[in-house]
Amino acid sequence: MLTEIDHVAIAVHDLDAAIDWYRTALGAEVAHREVISRDGVEEAMLSVAESYVQLITPTRPDSPVAKFLEKRGEGLHHVGYRVPDCAAALESMLQAGATPIDTAPRPGSRHTTIAFIHPKGSFGTLIELVEEP
Ligand code: CO
Repeated sequence: MLTEIDHVAIAVHDLDAAIDWYRTALGAEVAHREVISRDGVEEAMLSVAESYVQLITPTRPDSPVAKFLEKRGEGLHHVGYRVPDCAAALESMLQAGATPIDTAPRPGSRHTTIAFIHPKGSFGTLIELVEEP
């Protein structure tokens, strides 16, 4: 079911500062940058082989990522797993007892199709299923 780790997402306060740090410290370059209005986040995808580090920052105070930063501070936010069929993967996870955040697949950034699974019931890790276009 899993074909790749699509991305590891890290919540940050200052996107430009984080991008600069990843470039300087790790030589990582931005492959894609996008504001996802629906989720109230801006992301920068940094290439790591066939995967990404996804730096995310809130674009408004009621964004879930803003609440995360308030509560937990900067750091690891979620793991995105690449799957061939998001709907099938979501169905399979729900049958296994996972707690959904998204009960049906929806559009993500980069024209992907995504669904989030709640950390509760997933050993404390927010999981995102990612189907490429
Ligand atoms: Co993500």
